[in-house]
Amino acid sequence: MERTLTIFKPDSVAAGHAGQMLGQIEAAGFRLRGLKRLWLSPAQAESFYQVHRERPFFGGLVKFMTEGPVIVAALEAEQAVTRLRELMGATDPAKAAVGTLRKQFATNIERNAIHGSDSPENARIEIAFFFAGCELL
Ligand code: RTP
Ligand code: MG
Repeated sequence: MERTLTIFKPDSVAAGHAGQMLGQIEAAGFRLRGLKRLWLSPAQAESFYQVHRERPFFGGLVKFMTEGPVIVAALEAEQAVTRLRELMGATDPAKAAVGTLRKQFATNIERNAIHGSDSPENARIEIAFFFAGCELL
């Protein structure tokens, strides 16, 4: 079993789509291991997305991720990282396959509804960023 981290981004939470997205993820076989709702500070969003700090979209990404509450979840499944990214679809919803979460719920390449870890190592780092060990059962 492998774990991954997802974030239902501020656009999804504001639109009331987080529950439907989590339902589709659970229906695809993922088990929920941790769940919380929080409002990221700019410092927290900058730290979470620090790999992108040199990118031209970094300022806009931090502004978006801090515009309202997010819901974060630790998920477990066989090949969870790859399988969640398949369910999410491409970063740009215009390029995302039909049926994927971003095709259904994202607005554009920046306001794209959901985050998923991109490797098992980063999943461990990202889960530890949001959850204490006693919150992952
Ligand atoms: P994520 O990390 O959120 O799961 O998304 P991802 O792997 O599919 O895409 P990544 O390259 O890691 O980009 C992180 C987030 O930055 C925003 N972005 N905006 N304006 C742009 O060209 C642009 N490119 C990326 C998106 O919110 C993307 O999910
Ligand atoms: Mg990414």
